[in-house]
Amino acid sequence: MAKKERNAVKTLREMKEKSRLGGGERRIQDQHEKGKLTARERLDVLLDPGTFVEIDALVEHRSSDFGLQEQKIPGDGVVTGSGKIFGRLVFIFSQDFTVFGGSLSEAHAEKICKIMDMALKVGAPVIGLNDSGGARIQEGVVSLGGYADIFLRNTLVSGVIPQISAVLGPCAGGAVYSPAITDFVFMVQNTSYMFVTGPNVVKTVTHEDVSFEDLGGAMTHASKSGVAHFASENELECLRSVRKLLTFIPSNNLAELPAVECSDDPGRREERLRTIVPENPNKPYDMKEVVRLIVDEGDFFEVHEHYAANILVGFARLGGRPVGIIANQPAVLAGVLDIDSSLKAARFVRFCDAFNIPLVVFEDVPGFLPGTDQEWRGIIKHGAKLLYAFSEATVPKITVITRKAYGGAYDVMNSKHIRGDFNFAWPTAEIAVMGPKGAVEIIFRKEIEKSGNSAEALDKKVDEYREKFANPYIAAARGYVDDIIEPDTTRERLIHSLAILRNKVDRNPKKKHGNIPL
Ligand code: HXC
Repeated sequence: MAKKERNAVKTLREMKEKSRLGGGERRIQDQHEKGKLTARERLDVLLDPGTFVEIDALVEHRSSDFGLQEQKIPGDGVVTGSGKIFGRLVFIFSQDFTVFGGSLSEAHAEKICKIMDMALKVGAPVIGLNDSGGARIQEGVVSLGGYADIFLRNTLVSGVIPQISAVLGPCAGGAVYSPAITDFVFMVQNTSYMFVTGPNVVKTVTHEDVSFEDLGGAMTHASKSGVAHFASENELECLRSVRKLLTFIPSNNLAELPAVECSDDPGRREERLRTIVPENPNKPYDMKEVVRLIVDEGDFFEVHEHYAANILVGFARLGGRPVGIIANQPAVLAGVLDIDSSLKAARFVRFCDAFNIPLVVFEDVPGFLPGTDQEWRGIIKHGAKLLYAFSEATVPKITVITRKAYGGAYDVMNSKHIRGDFNFAWPTAEIAVMGPKGAVEIIFRKEIEKSGNSAEALDKKVDEYREKFANPYIAAARGYVDDIIEPDTTRERLIHSLAILRNKVDRNPKKKHGNIPL
């Protein structure tokens, strides 16, 4: 009997070892030669040591076409289970390129769906490490069905549990739509790519010659398409960034935010803030510096750093509690709102609102970008997305106007009118329908013409206008800003305001869902 038991355990161990080895030593070596880690090595980096618990290691595909019955590797190309990141539970799938190129079979898809269902039930984030040749070609439509099963879950759990995708190898065809639905997409330069059709198909259809990296590499998606939120230099950096992201976000839409003990003085005042806005309103300054001077330990975890740099979005902490920062960046395109920056910020605002992360806005915006390119591509509907996102958000919402708040952009950037809870302005703020020069050229056109278009007459009117409107006092007199604050007191005012808003409850009218202008 004892001997029989020993044999049974031996068989189990052998099967687990086979599963652990995936496609075998040669393919593991190939993976390393490409500068990639294996599916399991990635888990070692991503998760707290010794916390990974695997399930479904013995699942096999059920296909017999094209000789597949002879090729069964337990686990079937994806490692799934749960683990911890900084002590918090996460569910994870890690595709194993050494097994059928990480391609997605019916069984492979079922494994992913199983951990997604479990993550939803227990309220924990799902992290997908993607490295796959796409649909398992030998399985045909069954594999396509598997993808759709995942897409449906990606959609249904959206806004309930955070979903994070790291693309660490190929991700092509319809397979790209799973990461695309998830909240954050990480990529690695030179080893990962995403596209709907690859360079060969592109060449046939559009006659363009383009490399994998240029068509769908990390920097392409981080800077051009906006599909990727992060483009890391290597896998280690990528996986560490995923860990860091987790420190700012809750486990689900009902969970407490991950707060930390704050060792940075809430009353810290930075002299530099008093002079950071230049005297000349047309001169740029770096809003990232403003953000860093104000948040805990200067730690700003920027999202979408390389995309639409005229707006900044990312996470930070104030008084130890996470906040989502949205800030116009006057150092890039004068901080103007255009299509890309509106889309970038709108998606970020909606993520924060879905997961109860307070919004802190730093505003210095000259308006929306004019021109046929923007108009024809739909700045109206895309700008409306940002307006919609801020308007529907019910989390604590605070705005600090550092300089310009002009035109429609004043309304959009979390103004009091769309339920900003605390709206502050620095004494350097200019809150007006438009910039002084543009305004004067319209309302004093006749007078200026009469003066023979003299520059002196124009300047005089500009000065008059600036004196009257380009300041925060008219808005303050109406209560459109709650207070005008000295710049170096911003940190303490924000922390104080966030504490007041800690138990804020606000609701939108009951509905199935709104109709954001897509
Ligand atoms: C089955 C696959 C596979 C796939 C790769 N393999 N992709 N097996 N189905 N989709 C296998 C290969 O046969 C090979 O097996 C091993 O994985 C490694 O592949 P290589 O080609 O040797 O690797 P590499 O040179 O690095 O090229 C990687 C690749 C290429 C660029 C991903 O394999 C490739 O083009 N694959 C096909 C991609 C594709 O067209 N997929 C379908 C897309 S459509 P051996 O035994 O030799 O190691 C799609 C639709 C989804 O996915 C729709 C959802 C709605």
